[in-house]
Amino acid sequence: MPKQFKKSTDKNKRQKFAFKSPKGMHDILPDDQFYWERLSKYGKDVAEFYGYHKIETPILEDAEVFLKTLGEESDVVEKEMFFVKGGGKDKYVLRPEGTAPVARAFIEYGMSHRPQPVKLWYSGPMFRKEQPQAGRFRQFHQIGFEIIGGSIDPIYDAQIILASFHILEQAKIKNLVINVNSIGCRICRPHYRKKLIEYYKKNERDLCVDCKRRLKTNPLRLLDCKNANCAPLKVKAPSLLDNICVSCSSHLKLVLEYLDELSLPYVLNPHLVRGLDYYSKTVFEIFTDQSPLALASGGRYDYLLETMGSRPTPGTGSAIGMERVIELMRATHNASAKSSKEKVFFVYLGDLAKKKVLKLIEEFRRTNIITQESFGKDLIKRQMMLADKSGAQLALILGQREVFEETIIIRDLKSGVQETIPITKVVDVVKKRLQ
Ligand code: HAM
Repeated sequence: MPKQFKKSTDKNKRQKFAFKSPKGMHDILPDDQFYWERLSKYGKDVAEFYGYHKIETPILEDAEVFLKTLGEESDVVEKEMFFVKGGGKDKYVLRPEGTAPVARAFIEYGMSHRPQPVKLWYSGPMFRKEQPQAGRFRQFHQIGFEIIGGSIDPIYDAQIILASFHILEQAKIKNLVINVNSIGCRICRPHYRKKLIEYYKKNERDLCVDCKRRLKTNPLRLLDCKNANCAPLKVKAPSLLDNICVSCSSHLKLVLEYLDELSLPYVLNPHLVRGLDYYSKTVFEIFTDQSPLALASGGRYDYLLETMGSRPTPGTGSAIGMERVIELMRATHNASAKSSKEKVFFVYLGDLAKKKVLKLIEEFRRTNIITQESFGKDLIKRQMMLADKSGAQLALILGQREVFEETIIIRDLKSGVQETIPITKVVDVVKKRLQ
């Protein structure tokens, strides 16, 4: 369980407190907001720089949006969707991913009439009923990018990979490597599928239970099997790269050339297949050597919109798993970068001073300087301790004498140096000091 999600170990407290967040779902506590805000900002900056437009889709979707598109035998459809009761005849689910809902919105709002392709991005929670474990949750968050419409141009695949890569780089994740593969198209994949079935049929008795089942339903997923017993068979399995058609292999070649041009580190991984069925041609996953889990993944989905009733419309996209990235950011981000937003801490002595502080806070609010106080803790010593811990730059101290003399003390919390100034000038002086 990541550090940020560790729960109180105080037995007494826990016994008294019976309610817990749902299994595999976590609160994002105040101490972690720094990382969430940072990563969200990186996502927004990258999206805006590359001309993606933000889209927000509902957290509930018609179940058909996923049942029709992700693949009947995909883990998500088979066992991981949260169905929501109360929709009457309609069957709703908590969205397990963002691509199908964005494609649904593209069709519903006639986005094919806009200049093509349409570049969209989103950020928000997704839900999958997985067995919770490190880096795998039932509610998790993604930052996603989709390029929909236009032509089937490999440059869009490269641009999609670039966007996710840049966000991970900004999050200071080291030693990133992009795993790339092509899973072919409608023309070449059935031939490959046949070859793969023939190969595995000969070795069926050595397969794990899951692979035996998948051989009948979704043989490409055998390449993704993590069971050690299946590993030797996987190595000798016919390679996708040797079996895709000319169009798919020249598409892949160009994607790789663009990645070279952008100096992005990649490896060709002929065993890379994806857990969702809507992909065709390019698929990719981005890893770091600090974690065995993919930090971002995606690929091309040229048939997805057609499956949803649209005319043929190509698409390509990716999504970053925010929890996985934040777990690494916690280790690599300089804690000192975690500077406080609150720049000024008020310390007061006596009721009159307390009243004056209440009013002064409003003056600072008008100039956008964020302040902090600890009303309710009247002891000045205690307030000074909190000011020191707060991360604020300045303490503004108002005692009975200062109230009487209409002055206020400004104390630099780092150096301890302080001066007394007329209270009427405090906002201007603080503004200058903070610059
Ligand atoms: P996905 O590979 O299922 O693809 O998820 C994308 C990323 O979300 C993963 O690489 C991982 O970082 C994170 N992720 C997935 N499941 C979990 C989980 N249970 N707990 C924590 N993190 C998780 C998609 O969702 C596609 N919609 C991506 C895409 C966009 N393809 C085209 N456009």
